[in-house]
Amino acid sequence: MAVLLQRPQAAVACLLLYCLTYALSSPDPRQREALIKLEASMQLGGALHVHDFAMTSVEWLVKNATYRPHCYMCLTDRQSVRFIFSSQWPKALPQCSPWTLLENLRAKLANVTELDNSNLTIFTDQDPETVYPTQEEIWTTFEQAFLALFGLVTYAPVFRDYYYQGLTEFYTDNVMYLELRALLPEIYELDGSTHDTAWTLKTYQDVTRQFITEHPDFFGTRVIFTVHRAVNTSALTRTVEEAMKLQRDFPDIMAGFDLVGREDSGKPLWYFKDVLSLPAERGVTLPFFFHAGETDLEGTEVDQNMLDALLLNTSRIGHGFALLRHPVAKGLSRKKGVALEDLRNHPAAALMLENHPLVISSDDPAMFGSSGLSYDFYEAFVGFGGIKSTLGSLKELAINSIR
Ligand SMILES: *[C@@H]1O[C@H](CO)[C@@H](O)[C@H](O)[C@H]1NC(C)=O
Ligand SMILES: *[C@@H]1O[C@H](CO)[C@@H](O)[C@H](O)[C@H]1NC(C)=O
Ligand SMILES: *[C@@H]1O[C@H](CO)[C@@H](O)[C@H](O)[C@H]1NC(C)=O
Ligand SMILES: *[C@@H]1O[C@H](CO)[C@@H](O)[C@H](O)[C@H]1NC(C)=O
Ligand SMILES: *[C@@H]1O[C@H](CO)[C@@H](O)[C@H](O)[C@H]1NC(C)=O
Ligand SMILES: [Zn+2]
Repeated sequence: MAVLLQRPQAAVACLLLYCLTYALSSPDPRQREALIKLEASMQLGGALHVHDFAMTSVEWLVKNATYRPHCYMCLTDRQSVRFIFSSQWPKALPQCSPWTLLENLRAKLANVTELDNSNLTIFTDQDPETVYPTQEEIWTTFEQAFLALFGLVTYAPVFRDYYYQGLTEFYTDNVMYLELRALLPEIYELDGSTHDTAWTLKTYQDVTRQFITEHPDFFGTRVIFTVHRAVNTSALTRTVEEAMKLQRDFPDIMAGFDLVGREDSGKPLWYFKDVLSLPAERGVTLPFFFHAGETDLEGTEVDQNMLDALLLNTSRIGHGFALLRHPVAKGLSRKKGVALEDLRNHPAAALMLENHPLVISSDDPAMFGSSGLSYDFYEAFVGFGGIKSTLGSLKELAINSIR
């Protein structure tokens, strides 16, 4: 915190920012750019809600990973791409066109720009309300985009460089600490051999250490092990057991556990209460960081997730859009100091007025066509407080993330 408050350039930036707020009732693009630049020169504290395979800009991924040798691509029936690196011609995937070696494909094209811009994100130049008229459509595209990246980022050499590049992007944005929601999938080599979960976690630890050696003012990363909420009870039991083991074996880098994927179409936390109570029953520490309340479905089982997350002693709540509709959960989370990890479109303005702990994070910056964290601070700054935002609001959010 001392670092945060004493950085002279941050103080200068904050003063400028304070002046700029008067010009912000309808920010024009130049003012918006200026504000984002200023925020990028302030210390933003920790980014506490960021997902493993959406942390690094897709532009880097395309320019770097897909230009490596042995990279194959196919196109699914739903017009989404899949990739694999392989020393031999890979076996065909179901519902995907035959594999093409990217090197050969590029050599045949007069202009590779269009290929390189193919849809690996949910970003659109058009009106998003028209392109994605429903939650179903945007979630489907979002999950397809993750599947498209998957074969690139789970290739061991890319995996390391992708994470290092992601750290670089956040560090350049003046983020001093990162908590990464990570699936810890099997990572593969060119010959098709694979590494297990512990290897993946250890690689995060090794690359983080290397990054800190090269950037001694970066505080580090901790990993929240995640699994998709579509798993069944036996698979979740295995994963929670694995999480307890990792928490014991890697106490420095493991922060805890969470479930990911669309809440509305998944099982509620309560459905898994027996499995999620295993650590407490066994007297094992496994902190939870549940996504909860990322829903508008008032009154459904899913709408109870926030209260259940609190009953399961969650350390923070991912999103919590629905919190204002749940006074008991709101009272409990405020009393226990459980911060909400927010991105945007949030009833956060009212919560901030009540001093509810909140932190700003970017969740999946690559998918949204942004990078790092300052874009999200910009959205929060103009979104929550409008013209009444002051530098105090920003400082509070940065300090919350460290607290
Ligand atoms: C990808 O990035 C790594 C790490 O920065 C670098 O060593 C490598 O040369 C890059 N490869 C390509 C094809 O750009
Ligand atoms: C390649 O195509 C893109 C649009 O698809 C265009 O903007 C760009 O100018 C083209 N480049 C060349 C060298 O023709
Ligand atoms: C991806 O792009 C192709 C062609 O540009 C388009 O037909 C398809 O609908 C897009 N797929 C997704 C999942 O957005
Ligand atoms: C649970 O899911 C796993 C795969 O994730 C599957 O192998 C297993 O058969 C499923 N068990 C039940 C009881 O459905
Ligand atoms: C939550 O914390 C309470 C109080 O410390 C404890 O009694 C309870 O067992 C914990 N529940 C879980 C699921 O960890
Ligand atoms: Zn998330």
